[in-house]
Amino acid sequence: MRSCVARGLALGLVAAASIFVGEGLRAQDGPKPYPIYTADHLAATMEPLGPNFNAAVRALEAGDYLAAKERLARAREQMATTITFWRQREREDGIGFVRTVVRAMDDLDAAMSVDVVDAEAASRFAADVQAACNACHTVYREPDPEGGFRLKAEALER
Ligand code: HEC
Repeated sequence: MRSCVARGLALGLVAAASIFVGEGLRAQDGPKPYPIYTADHLAATMEPLGPNFNAAVRALEAGDYLAAKERLARAREQMATTITFWRQREREDGIGFVRTVVRAMDDLDAAMSVDVVDAEAASRFAADVQAACNACHTVYREPDPEGGFRLKAEALER
C-alpha cells in the first residue's frame, strides 16, 4: 500500500517534471520562439551599421543623395533591430538612445528627399545622428583589449 502511494507520488513527480520539460521545449521550439538578443547579436549588427552610416555620410558629402539615402536606409534598419537588446534588459536609457538615433536618421532622410537639397542642413542632420550614436557609446561601449570595441557589461547593472 505504502509503496503504491510512493509509486503514485513518484509517477506524479515524473509527470510534473515532464510537463515542465515539455513547456521548456515548447518555449524553445514553438511557432513563436522568444530568442534572446545577445551581446554578440548586438556586436554583429553594429559592425555593418558603422560602414553603412559612414558610406551614407560620404555620399552625402559628394552630393549623391540617392546613394546616401540607400545606405542610410540600411543603417536605419540595422539600428532599429537593436532596440530588442535594450528591451529585453529593460534599459530605458538604451531604448531612448536607439529611438533618438532612428528619429535623427528619419530627419536626415527627409532632408535628402526634397527636390533641392540644402547640403548644409543635411550635414547638420548627419552630425545629429552621429552625436546620438556617440551618446550611447559613451555609456555602453568600451575599448576591447583585443581590439575594437565591446559592450560595457557593468553599465547594464547600474
Ligand atoms: C543604444 C546604444 C547604441 C547606439 C544608439 C549606437 N551604438 Fe554603436 N555600439 C553600441 C555598443 C554597446 C557597441 C559595442 C558592441 C560591440 O561591438 O561588441 C557598439 C559598437 C559600435 C561599433 C563598433 C563595432 C565593432 O567593430 O566593434 C560601431 C562601428 C558602431 N557601434 C557604430 C554605431 C553608429 C554609426 C551608430 C549610430 C548610427 C551607433 N553605433 C549607435 C551601442 C550603440
